[in-house]
Amino acid sequence: MSNYITARDARRIIRENKRAIDDIEKRLKTLPASARKSVMRDADNIVEFDNLRTHFFTDSGVVKAVDGVSFDVPRGSTVGVVGESGCGKSVMSLSLMRLLQRPQGQITDGEIRLNAPDGAINIANTLPEKMGDIRGALLAMIFQEPMTSLNPVTRIGQQLDEVLDLHKVKLKERGILSDDSKAVIKKRTIESLEMVGISNAEGVYGMYPHELSGGMRQRAMIAMAMSCEPLLMIADEPTTALDVTIQAQILDLLRGLKDRINAGIMLITHDLGVVAEMADTVVVMYAGRVVERGTATDIYKSPAHPYTVGLMKSKPIPGRKVRRLYSIPGRVPNPVEMPDYCYFRDRCEYARGECDEYPPERDVSATHKVSCWRDGI
Ligand SMILES: Nc1ncnc2c1ncn2[C@@H]1O[C@H](COP(=O)(O)OP(=O)(O)OP(=O)(O)O)[C@@H](O)[C@H]1O
Ligand SMILES: [Mg+2]
Repeated sequence: MSNYITARDARRIIRENKRAIDDIEKRLKTLPASARKSVMRDADNIVEFDNLRTHFFTDSGVVKAVDGVSFDVPRGSTVGVVGESGCGKSVMSLSLMRLLQRPQGQITDGEIRLNAPDGAINIANTLPEKMGDIRGALLAMIFQEPMTSLNPVTRIGQQLDEVLDLHKVKLKERGILSDDSKAVIKKRTIESLEMVGISNAEGVYGMYPHELSGGMRQRAMIAMAMSCEPLLMIADEPTTALDVTIQAQILDLLRGLKDRINAGIMLITHDLGVVAEMADTVVVMYAGRVVERGTATDIYKSPAHPYTVGLMKSKPIPGRKVRRLYSIPGRVPNPVEMPDYCYFRDRCEYARGECDEYPPERDVSATHKVSCWRDGI
């Protein structure tokens, strides 16, 4: 395949992209109210992804970053999402928050159902301006690098107060704030800072982000995420920027908070060790699709997809001496031109005839699903 695009092709791509984006945005604006609502397949889930497709209409073609992803997040549980760099983990979570880079980033198909307190909604069909009521209050995001997501020129306390202030009406209804006065909001902020293990909460309230250490900043971010008692906290590589001891503390903190406010956690990470320790269920993504999902025990004790097996093999094990750490041979296919056969075929040692077709998802057990043609799994 050549990466060369002629000027004529480039003009055609730009034209096609513009048309596709206009169509999607127009459709979204004109949907009937009923299309924005939804019904959960299982009332015990807080989020259900159903055949989600998120594409980026770029000048070099359509990047199918997420291309038919389905999985559930049961209420109050931790779902670990793993996969190599570039396989669509962040794009999947940004689709849920509707924080995709517009206009090129668009949800092109599928549903994301959110079990909101006043009825299930389809996030994929929600107008961007309506997302303000959902983001922060029902879905909260903890980013990898708090220094880039906290405002450097605003005091920590004020930033937390602002989030509560934005959602104060709903928070009062839900009994999280007793009234919407400044004093009550400040009290809740201090309480949140204390809940994430910041001992000098009153002091930190008046500090700027740069006055805190990396671990403390991450705690402040988590305080902001949990202050509204969201249904789901999405943590995208929450500990990658931290050193190992602080990592362990932050993970402990997340685990404790989850039980305390009965929130779900979607934990996105490269670190299979972290997932093993934290997650109830695991979703393995490869090239924009889910190749395997199941309980943490399913995935760790009996991984079925050759890709998952490869990921496990490439994880260092303390105490085991190896000359070189294993790495899965080959590369992820180009997301602009995905093959029409199993995306993993060219890297797979079990590849055979059937792999000329993308494998449908099938059950390994009641809880364990895999997309692979291999027998005996
Ligand atoms: N704004 C964008 N425009 C075009 N392509 C994008 C954009 N954002 C992401 N992509 C593409 O979408 C694909 C998935 O990216 P994503 O960031 O979701 O990967 P990831 O699994 O989160 O990787 P990592 O583990 O490195 O964080 C990649 O091929 C990436 O290049
Ligand atoms: Mg990412």
